[in-house]
Amino acid sequence: MVFRVATLAFSGIEAVPVDVQVQISSGIVAFSIVGLADKAVAESRERVRAALQAIGLALPAKRIVVNLAPADLPKEGSHYDAPIALALLGAMGVLPADFLNRYMVIGELSLDGALSPVAGALPAAMAAHGRGLGLLCPAANGAEAAWAAADADILAAGSLVQIVNHVRGTQVLSAPEAKVAATAAQQPDMADVLGQEAAKRALEVAAAGGHHLLMSGPPGAGKSMLAERLPGILPPMTPREMLEASMIASLAGELADGAISAARPFRKPHHTASQVALTGGGQRARPGEMSLAHHGVLFLDELPEFSPRALETLRQPLESGEVTVSRASYHVTWPARFQLIAAMNPCKCGMAGEPGHVCARGPRCAEDYQARISGPLMDRFDMRIRLPKVRAVDLATAASSESSAQIAKRVAAARAMQAERAADLGLPATTTNAQLPAKALQQVAQPDAEGRQLLMEAAERLALSARAYHRVLKVARTLADLSGDAALRRAHVAEGLAYRGETMRQGRRAA
Ligand SMILES: Nc1ncnc2c1ncn2[C@@H]1O[C@H](COP(=O)(O)OP(=O)(O)OP(=O)(O)O)[C@@H](O)[C@H]1O
Ligand SMILES: [Mg+2]
Repeated sequence: MVFRVATLAFSGIEAVPVDVQVQISSGIVAFSIVGLADKAVAESRERVRAALQAIGLALPAKRIVVNLAPADLPKEGSHYDAPIALALLGAMGVLPADFLNRYMVIGELSLDGALSPVAGALPAAMAAHGRGLGLLCPAANGAEAAWAAADADILAAGSLVQIVNHVRGTQVLSAPEAKVAATAAQQPDMADVLGQEAAKRALEVAAAGGHHLLMSGPPGAGKSMLAERLPGILPPMTPREMLEASMIASLAGELADGAISAARPFRKPHHTASQVALTGGGQRARPGEMSLAHHGVLFLDELPEFSPRALETLRQPLESGEVTVSRASYHVTWPARFQLIAAMNPCKCGMAGEPGHVCARGPRCAEDYQARISGPLMDRFDMRIRLPKVRAVDLATAASSESSAQIAKRVAAARAMQAERAADLGLPATTTNAQLPAKALQQVAQPDAEGRQLLMEAAERLALSARAYHRVLKVARTLADLSGDAALRRAHVAEGLAYRGETMRQGRRAA
């Protein structure tokens, strides 16, 4: 007789149902696992054997075959231990079939029979709920799995013994509680940044419209400092965004304590990060930084220092909002709709363009340094600003500056206008101006006559690409939203154009 337990495999954030089938028959004593299992799954044999021994059960001295169906789907990861062990317990008559049929099972086993946490409990719980099943998972994953749905049946057990006792009724497991992450105690505040008013304004605009921003300036001007204060002015995620972002974090095993947070992700990979670290993938398919920044911010500090190949991988996700990785054995797509914030020095020494600075290596140095960023990538930044050196007088006379909370209020108001407008247009998933499709842009971002005139002239003179043209309109729309204007005026277009000013030389090359 064949005994079955439901589990799953992941393909991107999609969960694909997998059936663990166990057959115990007479014949030569053996225990084998078949069904395109990777090394971690093949090793699960030893863990399952030891864990059963730990609870005082020996595997029957018969021929045991475990099949993971469908057999042509690659299975990777250690979460197959628990379903294999439970299917065996079912086949051995320790656990009843009517109990096991109600659950999808995931979990890694320790040699002593304890269940260790695994990645992906949240998407697993959602998949199980969608199929009308409960999820049986390790205790440490209970909190995140409980987010799947209010009425989801989640059984989070610490060990195999607890499951057996639960079924026997001697120790009933209580349903885990969905946990919310405590808000970070002390976030850096925008008020710490002295001077740099123009850059602060640009950051506010970028936050309000979800625009990609490149900051360039001399060392110590406050670029990294400003970028680190962006999370403090961004509005919290909507419940739908929270769930999507958390599913990716869950798959990457990055949900601390299984608690979900409404704060937008802020990822800042180091510039030595590889292409795979950004896109995701690798031997075991794991989402990369671009996907972990979904609905949040990807901050690339010292942009020209990243490897050119890693930078080029950003191009397609920046347009499509998802990243697809193809390897010999798999082909997966993860969502990756992030806001790109980057910082760089204008040249290797960092001082090019500063008043009074004369460089022995002349303009060549700056050109070479900036050329590390390709034209098409440069073209994708909606806003490019230049930060000047902070003046000593600004530092000495610490003028009272706006706090993050004050700026966050204006950003939230502008975002609310955008969400409402998108809903009117029938685009509920579009929450920011940056995501508006070109067609919708024609409807909601038509400048007045003067504004159009200015845009036409500038587009000619600066040889704006079609993308750049649309992006200027998007930024102008955000500027109007921030000032509470329904109409798009000349001043908005002018400021929008000004944000494409920096590194215009490259902008022209890209166009
Ligand atoms: N505008 C500012 N107001 C207050 N302090 C500042 C400002 N700019 C820089 N500083 C001080 O200088 C330090 C370095 O700033 P930051 O790391 O942001 O510079 P940066 O522009 O990123 O430089 P680099 O190009 O070298 O990375 C900050 O930690 C802060 O103490
Ligand atoms: Mg820096």
